[in-house]
Amino acid sequence: MRLIFVQKKGKNLNTAVINNITDIKNTVKEWRKSNCTIGLVPTMGALHNGHASLIKKAKETCDKVIVSVFVNPIQFGPSEDFDKYPRTLDKDQNLCSNLGVDIVFAPSANEMYGENNRLNNTDLTFVYPPFKFTDCLCGKTRTGHFDGVATVVLKLFNISGADYAFFGQKDAQQLFIINKMVKDLNLDIKIIPCPIVRESDGLALSSRNKYLSDEERSWALSVSKALKQIKTLYSQGVTDTNILFDTAISILNSNIELEYLEFRDYNSFEPIKKLKDNSLVAIAVKVGKTRLIDNIIT
Ligand code: PAJ
Repeated sequence: MRLIFVQKKGKNLNTAVINNITDIKNTVKEWRKSNCTIGLVPTMGALHNGHASLIKKAKETCDKVIVSVFVNPIQFGPSEDFDKYPRTLDKDQNLCSNLGVDIVFAPSANEMYGENNRLNNTDLTFVYPPFKFTDCLCGKTRTGHFDGVATVVLKLFNISGADYAFFGQKDAQQLFIINKMVKDLNLDIKIIPCPIVRESDGLALSSRNKYLSDEERSWALSVSKALKQIKTLYSQGVTDTNILFDTAISILNSNIELEYLEFRDYNSFEPIKKLKDNSLVAIAVKVGKTRLIDNIIT
């Protein structure tokens, strides 16, 4: 007998965690009988208020909400933090229950990909978004990362059959690439972008902030400060990206290693020399061993 989790919302009810693709598909089939709209929030877990903002938006928009929690092995390079990435499924389930999520989908890597489930998997059909968008910014140092992201996201779209999917502006390049995939592959899903959630002192929330020592965290604050100053200068009429770059560098804490600070047109993703409205200013840094990203859109 197949078990189908159809759960009513209620104070003391835990959101069901489903690990199995068939069970998700069967549950969604049931929901479809009553014409429910379905929202998907793809995550890698270690949920924080940034994720919660996506979930709240999904709850406002859709009848049913699925949150996927999956640390996706095929988007991590061999020297990246896949093994040490925080895994806190019980806490994530609680947060999802409190927010009225209908299902947490938490598959194993084997469930998603079979046994050969690493980045260099040659037995898997991958989605390769255009190289010019995957090779720049974060893709420069994270070879294959966005291929792994696009592949898992397409799988999650197909598994959930969602009408809407919610992504944070925090990962601006990821959001751009997902939008491009949806358009190019004519996917029947609407992508809802959600603004960056920050701590009160400006630090963008990230599951990787857990890695920071108190001292490193204080250095990391200079990242959002530098971006904020770029926005202020732009509002005062400064558009020369060389000047804005130098200003940002002068604000960044000297213990921080800059990976990139780039200015791009947010519609085309082309690099720009003069800042204008709807430009992306994106930064990636290393604070100690921790890699952090942040951005603003003008
Ligand atoms: P993860 O890093 O867990 O992020 C899940 C979603 O939360 C992403 O859309 C991300 O942009 C959003 N998010 C993270 N921090 C945020 C913040 N401070 N404010 C607003 N939104 C924030 O991104 C991934 O997972 C993975 O690449 C995934 C898309 C799940 C594919 O594996």
